[in-house]
Amino acid sequence: MDRIRIVGGNALAGTIPISGAKNAALPLMIASLLTDDTLTLENVPHLADVEQLIRILGNHGVDYSVNGRREKQQEGYSRTINFSARNIVDTTAPYELVSKMRASFWVIGPLLARMGEAKVSLPGGCAIGTRPVDLFLEGLQVLGAELDVDNGYVMAKTKNGRLVGNRYVFPKVSVGATHVLMMAASLAKGETVLENAACEPEIVNLAECLVAMGAKIHGAGTSTITIHGVEALSGARVRVIPDRIETGTYAMAVAMTGGDVMLDGARPDLLQTALDVLVETGAEITPTNEGIRVKRNGAGIAPVDVTTAPFPAFPTDLQAQFMGLMTMAKGKSRITETIFENRFMHVQELARLGAHITLSGQTAIVDGVAKLKGAPVMATDLRASVSLVIAGLAAEGETTVNRVYHLDRGFERLEEKLSGCGAVIERISG
Ligand code: EPZ
Repeated sequence: MDRIRIVGGNALAGTIPISGAKNAALPLMIASLLTDDTLTLENVPHLADVEQLIRILGNHGVDYSVNGRREKQQEGYSRTINFSARNIVDTTAPYELVSKMRASFWVIGPLLARMGEAKVSLPGGCAIGTRPVDLFLEGLQVLGAELDVDNGYVMAKTKNGRLVGNRYVFPKVSVGATHVLMMAASLAKGETVLENAACEPEIVNLAECLVAMGAKIHGAGTSTITIHGVEALSGARVRVIPDRIETGTYAMAVAMTGGDVMLDGARPDLLQTALDVLVETGAEITPTNEGIRVKRNGAGIAPVDVTTAPFPAFPTDLQAQFMGLMTMAKGKSRITETIFENRFMHVQELARLGAHITLSGQTAIVDGVAKLKGAPVMATDLRASVSLVIAGLAAEGETTVNRVYHLDRGFERLEEKLSGCGAVIERISG
């Protein structure tokens, strides 16, 4: 199994290109199931999760071709990919595939809307929480789907071959369920109104894609989304937005190590709350025409309290990285996680680097230390793993991060991007 070896202590300086967003690319790829035309997606990141979803879509009959590389012609960076679901050959998403990546459960929406039926394995729990799918099921039923759960599978079918528009009020904000109901309602008969919908930028990116495919959608990015169903959708060409979590992660790395880095292609409007918090910690954040410039000079890191919540609040996907930063703040901070019940697995690992953190329910109280010291660490999810990487960059001495496959799910060319800014970081194979 690969490991990442880091020798900490260098300030970061240089430019980091920000990749296309994993969490936008995945639902856009799934939207290709809605049409028999070609959906061309630009700026698709080269990540293990994207490759896995290509395999899952392939199982349903989706063909893909890569046409051209990222503008800078760098091998392995974000690409333009054509997806064609001309012939759906299978409406079953098997357990072996869905259990590897939760987002693949989302195929249930487009398959049901286009084919009138779908059999999709329940995804099961995951390291960061139980993550049920009740809202997906309730919402699809409100659109007229007949559902049955049997042997770990959701068997879904429409009554007369087509879903029917309706009003659905999400009892809780869910990104995935908003994606799925928006896709499903695009091909339903009549009007659907989704209330208390997620407002994340990835929802807006999916709505832009669906509109480019011929859907009639208003209000994406607000909590009320109205969708007038159409009979069929066509192909389109859509660009994946820059990854706001990758952006925030590198910004926090600079805030932690000190230095001066240009995050090329980043969009400040996608993570304004997190950037405001970073400014409070003492980082200098400057939006430019190219992206976001992040600087921190010798001054210490100020402690700041944060609470995660749906967009536009502070994202849960940056909570672990922010905790990494706070471990070296001058004083105490409180970090409260409200989205997932088990997203503090980095706490014990950060402690191995010398951090002082105590947990009280869903709140971590972080007592900043003057320095961290390198150690071997491992984590059980993507964002927790990267928090250990950025802590390792700031720690004294050597840190080895095990289970690198978590990082490969969501960070394109992590070692290359960081070593390009002066970090001592390498992948050790085997
Ligand atoms: C998306 O997950 C992201 N994944 C997550 O990113 C992100 O952490 C999360 O949204 C919150 O922002 C992708 O976009 C692929 P939710 P999703 O449905 O859609 C509960 C990463 O590291 N819930 O908004 O699965 C759920 O358990 C990942 O890139 C129900 O109770 O998240 C959670 O507590 C991890 N019933 C809350 O809602 C449901 O039917 C929000 O989850 C659905 C969700």
